[in-house]
Amino acid sequence: MNFSDALVRVLRTATRVAVLTGAGISAESGVPTFREAQTGLWAQYDPQELATPQAFARDPKLVWDWYAWRRKLVMRAQPNAGHVALVALATRFKAFTLITQNVDGLHQRAGSSAVLELHGNIMRTICAVERTAIDPLPHTTQVPPPCPRCGQPARPDVVWFGESLPRAALATAVEAAQHCEVFFSIGTSALVEPAASIPRIALERGATVIEINPIATPLTPHVQFALVGAAGEVLPNLLKLI
Ligand code: OAD
Repeated sequence: MNFSDALVRVLRTATRVAVLTGAGISAESGVPTFREAQTGLWAQYDPQELATPQAFARDPKLVWDWYAWRRKLVMRAQPNAGHVALVALATRFKAFTLITQNVDGLHQRAGSSAVLELHGNIMRTICAVERTAIDPLPHTTQVPPPCPRCGQPARPDVVWFGESLPRAALATAVEAAQHCEVFFSIGTSALVEPAASIPRIALERGATVIEINPIATPLTPHVQFALVGAAGEVLPNLLKLI
């Protein structure tokens, strides 16, 4: 895979880098993207219908079971070469911020630290009312399990449609986009707000934006470098040049 001299020069001179990843970076780990996840029993459901507070209020067991099924998929998955390359990439720059829309925790399992999880993490459970962590889960046959403190149902610690993103994570991600010299958009369809606006903030502030995706997205026409390919191939090859 060849990269332009201009791209290599940009990466070799950058000091502040930010990265936004989406479901695509976990695709090579076998974790289906949010929209592909609907197979088997779940094929009859629209994920956007299940990942909502209304769906949970209407049928907490159904939503809880869906996330339990997705957790099993994630636990069987391993970080791939793309996740691992980002861990090494983080050591090449003075400032490096990793922002993800993914809830699978694979960046952390690969060794990344201080990951900004804009949409939460499927492996964590919170009280549906207090929103505080429930760990460990209580031993019960009840589904969903009740919060040990208030008895309300537990829920996965993920952002559902219509819910706001964790304020601190979003603010830190925007701050990184405003001050970085290079911004990577990796494995995301760049459609879901507010995450989709973060690469555009970097563009507006004059950063060089690099997109890694096998297919074009609404962001592609605006980026300086569109690397067409799988993250698990492109990132390790980029790393060799820096
Ligand atoms: P999508 O499923 O919308 O997009 C995944 C992107 O990854 C697509 O553009 C694919 O072309 C690309 N892709 C697939 N395989 C790839 C690979 N090996 N390397 C690089 N790119 C690859 O997932 P997201 O953009 O992450 O929100 O979706 C954003 C949000 O939409 C999700 O976080 C979820 C969903 O609604 C919530 O759950 C709140």
